[in-house]
Amino acid sequence: MIAPSMLKCDFGNLKSEVDRIDAAGLPLYHLDVMDGNFVPNLSYGAMVIERLRALTSTPFDAHLMISDPAKYLDEYIKAGCEAITFHLEAVPNPTELLRAIRQQDVVSGLALNPGTPIEAAEPFLEHCDMLLIMSVNPGFGGQKFMPEVLPKMQRAREVAGERLLISVDGGVAAGTIGKCAAAGAEIFVAGSSIFDYDDLKTASDVLFSEASRCISAT
Ligand code: DX5
Ligand code: ZN
Repeated sequence: MIAPSMLKCDFGNLKSEVDRIDAAGLPLYHLDVMDGNFVPNLSYGAMVIERLRALTSTPFDAHLMISDPAKYLDEYIKAGCEAITFHLEAVPNPTELLRAIRQQDVVSGLALNPGTPIEAAEPFLEHCDMLLIMSVNPGFGGQKFMPEVLPKMQRAREVAGERLLISVDGGVAAGTIGKCAAAGAEIFVAGSSIFDYDDLKTASDVLFSEASRCISAT
């Protein structure tokens, strides 16, 4: 599935952006939360997400690029996120936090920066519903896809089997999505390759068909 990254939408027109996303049938909002500390950029937080929640019933995944996700977990759950993804680099022993997320019937997600090896996440995958493999260093949209992360997707699939949702984030576009699909990813976060186009439905169809073509070729 294609998940639009709300870092690249028009923040001056959030209501119409939500309408556009829903009209295009995009199934999952990817909400990039940045604290200016874990990453060198600041975006938006639970208050904005709560306002967005009132505008759509499409599920939300909060991608928390923040230094202390445990401290703010309840805010994001209260804001109405169906999935919460935080970084292993921020919480090196994430079992308790992954458990706390699941206990609230929220999908638990763990994100890995490009430089973090998959082996660092393996002991925690049993507590994790979704693994987010970053294919750029987090902080900004519009960066170049890093193909060296592809083996991490394959390895995660081998270790965790079909149960684990594997997601990829950063530089996902028509020329890169197929490699991710072939490596086992199934949730494709897309910022520029969706919001750089006027017609979101056509943009997402292009990505989806490219992913499908590469899966059937493997
Ligand atoms: C980067 C964010 C991404 C980013 C994706 O830190 O986590 O979600 O906005 O944007 P593109 O698709 O343009 O790389
Ligand atoms: Zn993201």
